[in-house]
Order: sequence, then structure tokens, then C-alpha cells
Amino acid sequence: MDLGTTVLEMGGRQCILDVHPGTMGPHVIDIGKLFDQTGAFTYDPGFTSTASCKSAITFIDGDAGILLHCGYPIEQLAEHGDFLEVCYLLLYGELPARAQRDNFEYRLTHHTMVHEQMSRFFTGFRRDAHPMAVMCGVVGALSAFYHDSTDISDPYQRMVASMRLIAKMPTIAAMAYKYHIGQPFIYPKNELNFAANFLHMCFAVPCEEYKINPVLARAMERIFILHADHEQNASTSTVRLAGSSGANPFACIAAGIACLWGPAHGGANEAALNMLGEIGHVDNIPEFIARAKDKNDPFRLMGFGHRVYKNYDPRAKIMQKTAHEVLGELGIKDDPLLDIAMELEKIALTDSYFIEKKLYPNVDFYSGITLKALGFPTTMFTVLFAVARTVGWIAQWKEMIEDPHQKIGRPRQLYTGARRREYVAMPDRVAT
Ligand code: CMC
Repeated sequence: MDLGTTVLEMGGRQCILDVHPGTMGPHVIDIGKLFDQTGAFTYDPGFTSTASCKSAITFIDGDAGILLHCGYPIEQLAEHGDFLEVCYLLLYGELPARAQRDNFEYRLTHHTMVHEQMSRFFTGFRRDAHPMAVMCGVVGALSAFYHDSTDISDPYQRMVASMRLIAKMPTIAAMAYKYHIGQPFIYPKNELNFAANFLHMCFAVPCEEYKINPVLARAMERIFILHADHEQNASTSTVRLAGSSGANPFACIAAGIACLWGPAHGGANEAALNMLGEIGHVDNIPEFIARAKDKNDPFRLMGFGHRVYKNYDPRAKIMQKTAHEVLGELGIKDDPLLDIAMELEKIALTDSYFIEKKLYPNVDFYSGITLKALGFPTTMFTVLFAVARTVGWIAQWKEMIEDPHQKIGRPRQLYTGARRREYVAMPDRVAT
């Protein structure tokens, strides 16, 4: 579809801008020539109207509550797929045929162990360190251990680094957990699938047999699938920006982990569960709803609202179902936090403030309850998000590096500081 051009008039000068259609979703106005033709920049803090790249990986229609990976609806992938084939899909754009899948699984599982020297790296951290702090450090340190896969101009090294990151992330996350609770590290077991292996590395101890519960392993798998990618969110944009300078992929993923940690992004699952605990009882919900609506109170309902979804987050629906399945399997009949969550959701969905602002539960609202029931402490929640999102970060990084038009990301600014002035010697300065 040729959408032609649009014309922008400024100070009597006309600037002709191309308009590009996407296969779905809004068109974009190409402002690449704007500065040359008008001398002006655009201003869009938070990128609310700005596409930072072209991408063929993930599509979200926030108004309709639709999430597609390479065209496949998240509901179908979560119901029928497994995490490994979602990884393959994100990296290569198609679901794998049997032989492709087997080959992918073989390549991935042969990278699950980490360099033995890395286990000593952990002991440099305090036991009470937040596991996300440990993840930032240890994942960044991978580039100090795997020198043979840091040359980003070599497609083979890029592939090896990608496999290493996806495969080692669960191992590192489980090690961060084991270190935190003072238990010995458990080596990966390649006969188990991605999610079951992760549960094994987290919950097995050397003195006992650990039996995988298939319902819980399937729930873990679904959590990984639901968090695998989400187009140009803050952490993915961070990975792309870090990668645009030519930084190695281990460093870029460490940057993504740091960004994910914030409570407005991946840290929301931890914050949401803490909030449910703080509410404590369904009777206290009105007070917290009132606080969320109060302009003078910084409190927000964690797990509600999304920059893109102005409808129910499709991942939240699947997560809610998964939470019930896990609690049912574990025989947890009355979980007070689940009761509070369901009541809170009911009230928020009928409250005019939340309706007008289109604030719906997001994926983080029910994931905390599920992860807690699986046995994870709240501090591990964002770590699990990072394990799942690594493939999305890698797929987006790979797409960017392979784009022949790729340039270093270098935003402009609207300068609001002092005009040029002369240096003042210390004796002549007046404290302000
Ligand atoms: N509780 C109460 N009010 C809210 C909330 C909330 N959770 N979220 C947004 N609002 C209000 C906000 O005060 C603002 O009101 P007004 O227009 O009167 O100033 C309006 O809704 C729009 O909010 P915004 O902050 O301009 O929207 P945003 O797109 O910049 O923020 C968000 C999106 C996710 C950061 C925000 O909704 C939020 O802080 N939610 C809680 C944290 C959370 O659950 N984050 C997880 C996101 S999903 C997982 C992920 O992608 O990482």
C-alpha cells in the first residue's frame, strides 16, 4: 500500500515526509529528513507517538487486547506451544518443523552449564543481595568468560552468544536463588525441558530425589511463554540502544536486566504481590482504591495499567487461569491473596476512574500469586521475568544487528539549560 507523503509547514518552509504502512497497526511518518529541511527536532518524551525501529517480531493492538508473535496469537502459543518453539519462532520468524526443533533443542541444551569459575563469582555477593542485583552483575560478567562469542560482526559468534544467553540464563537465575538461600548449586539436567529443568535447579537438593510435578512445570512453561517478548518495551529498547553502539550481547542483556528491574516494568510482579500483602484483607480494598485515585498520593495499583494495552492484557487472562490451576494442584483452597486480587480486580473493573483511564489488570497482576504458590520468594519474581524475556531481547537485538540500515541510537533533545557564560574563579563565586 502506498500511503504517499504528508506535508509539514514550519516558518514558511514546507517539509515533505514519507508515510510508511505496517502490515498491521498504525502507519508511521518518516521524520528522518525533518531536521535537514526545517532545522527542528521532534519532542516525544516516553516515546508515546514514536516508533523507534521497524520490527517483524511482535505485534500488539492495545485497544483490542491482541498480542501476536510473528502472527501467532499468544493464547494459541500458550495453550498449544512450548517455550522452546516460541524461542525458535521469535528468533527465526517461523514455528520449527520437527527436525529443526530437535536441532535447536540440542544446540540450546548443550549450553546450559556455566563456566565453573563463575560459581566463585557468586560468593563475592552478600547473601542478602537482591537476586536482580546479582543477575545484572553475573550476566554482564558472561562477556568476561565467553570471549569467543563477543564479535558481533560474525554471524556464527552472534548465534553462539544467543544460544548461550538463552540457555544459561535459567542456570544463573537458579544459582542466584540457591546462593540467596544458602543451598548448594544444582547443575542443569538436559533430559528435562526448559521449565522443568529450571524448577529442578531451583528446588532440588543433593540429598533427595526431586520429582517434577507436570502441572507445575506446565505453569512455569506458560509463565515463560507469556513473558517471552513484548515488542519495544523499556528493557527491549534498552537492549537495542546498548546494542546499537556495537556492545557485545552479554553486556546488552545485562543492560536490559537493569531496566527490567524497575517497578513500572518487570519489577511490577514483585510490587503487585507486596501490595496484595499490604492490603491484607478484602475489607481494606476501598481504602487502597481511594489512594490510587488520589492525585496527591503517589500510590498506584501495581499490576494495573499499561502504556499500550487500553483493554484487558491478553496475558493476564491466561495468567489468571494458570494461577487457579496451580493453586488447585497444590490443594490451596483459600489463598487470601488470591481472594484480595479477585475482589480488587472486580472493583477496579467497575470503578469509573479505572474505566475512564482504561486501566486493566496486566500480566503482573496474577503472575505473583502463581509464582508464590510455586515456591518462589517475591525477590525472584523479576528474575523469572528476565529468564523468559532474554529470548525476546536477543531476537530484537539480532533483528537490529542484521538490519543493513542500522545506526547507533542517538536521540536529540530540547535544551532548556543556561546559555553560554564565562568561567567564574572560586573566590568570585556566590553560592546559589
Ligand atoms: N493505578 C492508579 N492510577 C494509574 C495507574 C495505576 N496502576 N496506572 C496509570 N494510572 C493513571 C495515572 O495516574 C494517569 O492519570 P492522569 O492522566 O490523571 O495523570 C493515567 O492513569 C495514565 O497513566 P500514565 O502513567 O501516564 O501511563 P503510562 O502509559 O505512562 O504508564 C504504567 C503505564 C504501566 C507505567 C502505569 O500504568 C503503572 O505505573 N502501572 C503500575 C505498574 C505496573 O503494573 N507495571 C507493569 C506493566 S506490565 C509489565 C511490563 O510490561 O513490564
